[in-house]
Amino acid sequence: MRDTLDRLKEEALAALADAGSSEALQAWNRRYLGKKGALTQMLRSVGELPKEERPAFGQATNAVKVDLEAAYDARTEAVRQAEMARDLAQGAIDVTLPGRPAGSGHLHLTTQTLRQIYDIFAEMGFQVYEATDVETDTYNFELLNMPPHHPARDMWDTFWINDELLLRTHTSPGQIRVMRERYPEPIRVILPGKCYRYEQITARSEHQFYQVEGLAVGHNITMTDLIGTLTEFARRFYKPDRRIRIRGSYFPFTEPSIEADMDCILCNGAGCRVCKYTGWVEVCGAGMVHPVVLKNGGYDPAEWSGFAFGFGVERPALMKYNIDDIRLFYRNDLRFLRQF
Ligand code: PHE
Repeated sequence: MRDTLDRLKEEALAALADAGSSEALQAWNRRYLGKKGALTQMLRSVGELPKEERPAFGQATNAVKVDLEAAYDARTEAVRQAEMARDLAQGAIDVTLPGRPAGSGHLHLTTQTLRQIYDIFAEMGFQVYEATDVETDTYNFELLNMPPHHPARDMWDTFWINDELLLRTHTSPGQIRVMRERYPEPIRVILPGKCYRYEQITARSEHQFYQVEGLAVGHNITMTDLIGTLTEFARRFYKPDRRIRIRGSYFPFTEPSIEADMDCILCNGAGCRVCKYTGWVEVCGAGMVHPVVLKNGGYDPAEWSGFAFGFGVERPALMKYNIDDIRLFYRNDLRFLRQF
């Protein structure tokens, strides 16, 4: 047996020295070291030996295996080098070949939509004002006329960071920030930004989404100005013949409060799945800025008045581009994103 083992080793090393290409090396490896290779076979035959000879033979076979593996690695490296030198000499690598162009990205659908919204409001004289994502209880609720424990706070399921800090549930706290910064100037701004709500994620709602808030403060600003602004926006963003419907509503920071609906752009008001067969889809919450909020912003409600509105950004984009799942906006799936 020992003889056979020695002969096998010699034969294998000689064959290895003859293997001059990657293919030949692979064949060699299969033949000697592979699962069905000669050495493996040899190891299996240990059982045929008398018991006392088995350990020594097993060890010897393993030692041969280690030697052959090392020889194989060295030979592989040498052959690889030789092959590369040959390829280079033959000009197989063409260094003048132009590189692959780097793929260029584009703006996310949400950003594109936001920019369309900025353009439309810019033409109506609104500036863009950005407030912070992390807010205080004071700005997100209290200064918006919701003292601690006010039941209306339940309208916004909140991600709390600690007792005072939270992720803003809407862009409305920005109203107070602009007013405090701009007083005593008249104000016409939109406040875009991400909002967060502690809610179940479904095809219709995400726990993070963008809103655009609008705020106008001045003298003699009325509900008609608000309705006119919203109607004009809907017509420019969707189609010139859009119709707006106003319903009474409630928000603690506006008085009176309204909600604006638009005739459904998918069925043109006839009724479909998207508008739940009503012909109308909700566009935004809005109203006349509450006197308490004006006062908290530093503006005397006896002298000043204003309107405010707030709407989501992903939903209008869903409607405009006929997308059926809001979660796609945050999934980073290029197959989706490249379509816009
Ligand atoms: N902040 C309200 C919301 O998130 C919307 C709103 C904004 C309503 C401004 C009235 C005025 O639901």
